[in-house]
Amino acid sequence: MAAAEVPVTGLPDDLRRKLPRYPTVPVVRIGRLAVDVRHDGKGLGSILVANAIGRVLRSEIAAYALTVDAKDEAAAGFYRHLGFLPFGPVDKALFLPVATAKKLLEK
Ligand SMILES: CC(C)(COP(=O)(O)OP(=O)(O)OC[C@H]1O[C@@H](n2cnc3c(N)ncnc32)[C@H](O)[C@@H]1OP(=O)(O)O)[C@@H](O)C(=O)NCCC(=O)NCCS
Repeated sequence: MAAAEVPVTGLPDDLRRKLPRYPTVPVVRIGRLAVDVRHDGKGLGSILVANAIGRVLRSEIAAYALTVDAKDEAAAGFYRHLGFLPFGPVDKALFLPVATAKKLLEK
C-alpha cells in the first residue's frame, strides 16, 4: 500500500461535486496484492482487501479512496466484484471511496 493522489477530473461527476476544489485527492494505492495460486478462490483475496481497508481506516493520514491499477481483466473483475469503480482514461484503473469501504466492512 502506498500514498498516492489522483486527479479529481477522473472521478464520476456525482462524487467530484462533493469534494473540495483541489485538482487532486489523496488515495492509498494497493499494489501487488496476490494469493498463492494453490489457494485461489477461497476468500483470501477479499480478506487481504478488507485488511487494507482496515489499515486505511485506522490511519491518522486521510485518504479519500483506495485505488488499484488492475493488472488484467481477471484482477479487474475481482476488484469490481468487491465494489471498486472504474475511473480515468485507463479501463483497469479502479477506486473505492473510503466511506463506501467502511460501510462494506460494517456489513
Ligand atoms: C485476484 C486475486 C487476488 C483474487 O484472490 P482470491 O482469493 O481468489 O479471491 P476471493 O476468493 O477472495 O474472491 C472474492 C470474490 O471475488 C469474486 N471474483 C474473483 N475473481 C473474479 C473475477 N475475475 N470476476 C468477478 N468476480 C471475481 C469471487 O467469486 C468471490 O466472490 P464471492 O465473495 O461472492 O464468493 C487472485 O486471483 C490472485 O492473486 N491473482 C493473481 C494476482 C493478481 O492478479 N493480483 C491483482 C494485481 S492488480
